[in-house]
Order: sequence, then C-alpha cells, then structure tokens
Amino acid sequence: MSNRCLSCQTIEPESVLYEGYHTRCSRNLFGTTEPPKVPFSTADVSREAQKMVGKMSISGVQPKLSVVHDRKKHQLMVVERGGLYILKPPTERFESLPENENLCMNIASVYGIEVPSHGLVPLMDARLAYVVKRFDRLEDGSKLQQEDFQQLLQTDDKYSGSYERIANFIKKHSDVTGLDLIRLFERAFLYYSLGIGDAHLKNFSLIRRKEVGYQLSPAYDIVSSRLVLPEEKEDMCLSLRGKKNRLSRGDFIKLSDHFGLTRKQSDNSFTRLNELKPTIEKMVAESFLSQHLKDRFLEIFRQRMKQIFG
Ligand SMILES: Nc1ncnc2c1ncn2[C@@H]1O[C@H](COP(=O)(O)OP(=O)(O)OP(=O)(O)O)[C@@H](O)[C@H]1O
Ligand SMILES: [Mg+2]
Ligand SMILES: [Zn+2]
Repeated sequence: MSNRCLSCQTIEPESVLYEGYHTRCSRNLFGTTEPPKVPFSTADVSREAQKMVGKMSISGVQPKLSVVHDRKKHQLMVVERGGLYILKPPTERFESLPENENLCMNIASVYGIEVPSHGLVPLMDARLAYVVKRFDRLEDGSKLQQEDFQQLLQTDDKYSGSYERIANFIKKHSDVTGLDLIRLFERAFLYYSLGIGDAHLKNFSLIRRKEVGYQLSPAYDIVSSRLVLPEEKEDMCLSLRGKKNRLSRGDFIKLSDHFGLTRKQSDNSFTRLNELKPTIEKMVAESFLSQHLKDRFLEIFRQRMKQIFG
C-alpha cells in the first residue's frame, strides 16, 4: 500500500494511513477516522447513475451518484434524495477524471479558494472514484438555498456568458461583494492557469448562508479539460474582456479593473500563484495521475504561466 493519502495526496514517509487516508483527512470528509468502503464497482455506478437520471437534485452531464455514509455498515450507500455526498465514477470517455478533479481541487485549496471536502475512493474493481461533500446540505439534512449562474442570469445556454456578467450580478446581489469579486477573479485566473476550460455558468453558484446571506458558493467541478481534450477549441468557455484564448496578465488586469479591484489586490493574486509554482509542480508529481498525464499537466501549467508572467 502506498503512503500517499487518497484525499490530500501528500506523501509523508512518517505518516500512517488507514485504508489510504490520514485520520484527519478521513474525519474531515467522512466524519470517521477510517473511510467507508464502497460496495459497488464502476459498472454498478454507471447502471445506478442511469436509473437516477431525473430523480436526483443534482444534474450535470457526467454520470454521478448521490450517496450517504452509512456509519453502521461503514459503507457509502446510494440514495435518491437527501444525499450528503456526490460520487463521480471514472468514465471510458476521459482518462482519469476522478484523479484529475481531486488534484485540481487540492491545488485550488492551496491557492486559497474555498472547496468542499473531497477525496478518492476505491470501487470494488479497484478503480478510483471522486467523492465530494455537498456544501448545500447540513448534517441534519436541511438544505441551503443555492442557485447556479445559468438560472440567475436567466439564459438557456450555459456557455453564453462572461466573467463580467457574473461579476455584475455579484455587485448587485451578493452580501459580501468585495470578497466575492476577489474570489471570482482568482478562480478565473487559476482556471486559466490549469487548463480548466469547462467552467461554464452552471459551475458557479450563489449560496445563502444563515450568518452571511448570499455569497459565491465554494468551488466545484474543477477539472483540467485541456488535459483530456487536447483539441479543445477554447482556453476558457466564458469570455473575459471579450477574449477566451491566449490570455495575458494585461487581460486579467483589465478584468480586475472592471471588477473594481485595486491593483494591490490583483497583484497579490498574481504573486501568490507565481510563488506557488514549485508547490503546484510537486502536487502534480505526487498526484494519482499516470506519468504521461502528469507530464502533460505540467506542460499546460508551465505554458499558461509563461503566457501570463512571461
Ligand atoms: N459539493 C457540492 N455541493 C453541492 N452541490 C454541488 C457540489 N458539487 C456539484 N454540485 C451541484 O451539482 C451539479 C453537478 O455537479 P458537477 O458540476 O460536479 O457535475 P458534472 O456532471 O461534471 O457537470 P457538467 O455538466 O458541468 O459536466 C453542479 O452544477 C452543482 O449544482
Ligand atoms: Mg458541472
Ligand atoms: Zn491526507
């Protein structure tokens, strides 16, 4: 058994893992010191996901299941309603999507973007699935109000939009406008840097939290699409300053000006990512991607960083 944690992915020679997880990482995601078993295989997940289409409260293009942690059996269990986790299985179409998503979420977290607890779990056929905790559900099963930006901007096309339109809505309706604008800016910047090209309007939401009111929800569905789709047409599917490709630092500065951020704020976002470069490279190397995907991920990241920082 490797000593690399299936959630945080760090390799620490001294650390002890139980069923592939640090105790703290398992507790954080599943609420127990050891992760639950998953009593189904990749084929079972695809079959179950087919049955669930239209029944679940979570939609999206990729197959996925709504699950809860059955603590008595110490297993994940599929449910139609009231799921506290989303499980995304590997797919034949795109190589290593779960490993890709777990890595991107970890990088986002290190950069300071709020993400829900997440990790990889081995299915019965030993392939890895991605599990993420729902941030719109509380432990008692109650639901927080959440609306994605396709609904909020009332458009039929999740790809017809721009970061400016999201920002304008935030300026009007967020209860923490300044914070949300920085959050949005940093997401645009990080997504570009990692080749996360499928961040469409349904992949951004506002959530209503009791203490704060409306604010941008934690980040979700972040995968490097460029990694699995080398022929992807555009670098970003939502435009910024009218562009979707070959973005430069100047384009991001213009975006931050439109958002009303100060130069000090945008500089801080640039500098922090630039300083994280070695950390991110190490995270890629320690990820669960295969060697050729690691190499490709690094190539994309380095090329984008070069485009921004020269
Ligand atoms: N951790 C989470 N907590 C609550 N809701 C979530 C979470 N992750 C995703 N969702 C909701 O579920 C929907 C589908 O999830 P996700 O975007 O990850 O799936 P997808 O099938 O990959 O999407 P796409 O259609 O963009 O390919 C999202 O649009 C969002 O509304
Ligand atoms: Mg999505
Ligand atoms: Zn860990």
